[in-house]
Amino acid sequence: MSPFKPVKIDILTLFPEMFAGPFSNSILKRAQECGLIEINLINIRDFSANKHRTVDDAPYGGGAGMVMGPEALFGAVEHVLNTRGFDLLPGRVVLMSPQGRPFNQMLADKMARENNLVLICGHYEGVDERVRKELVTDEISIGDYVLTGGEIPAMVVVDAVTRLVPGVLGEAASATEDSFCGGLLEYPHYTRPREYRGMGVPEVLLSGHHEEIRKWRRRESLLRTLERRPELLRTAELTSEDKEILRRIKSSINELDLS
Ligand SMILES: C[S@@+](CC[C@H](N)C(=O)[O-])C[C@H]1O[C@@H](n2cnc3c(N)ncnc32)[C@H](O)[C@@H]1O
Repeated sequence: MSPFKPVKIDILTLFPEMFAGPFSNSILKRAQECGLIEINLINIRDFSANKHRTVDDAPYGGGAGMVMGPEALFGAVEHVLNTRGFDLLPGRVVLMSPQGRPFNQMLADKMARENNLVLICGHYEGVDERVRKELVTDEISIGDYVLTGGEIPAMVVVDAVTRLVPGVLGEAASATEDSFCGGLLEYPHYTRPREYRGMGVPEVLLSGHHEEIRKWRRRESLLRTLERRPELLRTAELTSEDKEILRRIKSSINELDLS
C-alpha cells in the first residue's frame, strides 16, 4: 500500500461506460491498484427528478439544443459531498467547459496536490447557469474547440493529473524533465538500435559523459522551445547558463540570416 493519501476523483457523467478503456490500462490502472488515486464514476441520471430519468430540457428563451437541468446535477454533487463526508465543498468542483480556464501543466500540478476533485461532464448545449454559479469552483477547457461532451476532457485532466501524483511514475525524474515542467519543451530522445536506416544517434549520448549529456539536453530543450514555442521562454525558469546558451543560439541564427 502507498504511504501517500490518495487523490479521490469523483466524475459526474451521463456516460460512465466511456471511461472503462482509458482508466483500466497502463499507468492509470496501476495508480488505482496502488491506491494512489481513487476514481469514482457517478451517473448523473441516477439523480434525475423524474421517472424517465431525463436530465435535460429545452432552454428558456428558445433556441436550438437542450440544457442539462439543475436538479440531477445538484443531487449528484450533494451525494458526493455526503459520501465523502464533507461539511463544506471540497477543494475543487470542476466543470469541464470550452469557456473555462485553459488546462496546462501548472494547473495539473496544482490539482495533483488536492485530496479531492469533483469533475462535472456537461453535454448538449451545456449546464444550467445556476449549477455553474452555485456549485462550481473552477471551469476548465482542454482547448479552443467544442467537443460533444465533457467525458474526453475529464479523461485528459485525470491522465495529466495522475502522472503528477507522488509515487505514480516509477522515477521521480520522469515528470520533472517532461515538457512544460520548468517552462520548456523537453529535449529529443533516442534508444536502440544505434543506427537505423542510415540514421545515427548524437555522439554525445553514447559518450557516457554525464555533464556533457546534461548540457546537450539543456541546449536542445532551449533550442526546441525557441523554435516551436518562443512565448514559453518569457516565463520559463532560466539560469544564467541558459540565457548564455540562448544568446549564442540567437546570434548563430542571425549570422545564418545574413549569409
Ligand atoms: C457541446 S458542448 C457545449 C458547448 C456550449 N454550448 C458552448 O458553446 O460553450 C457540451 C459539453 O462538452 C464539454 N466540452 C466541450 N468542449 C470542451 C472543451 N474544449 N473543454 C472542456 N469541456 C468541453 C463541456 O462539458 C460542455 O458542457
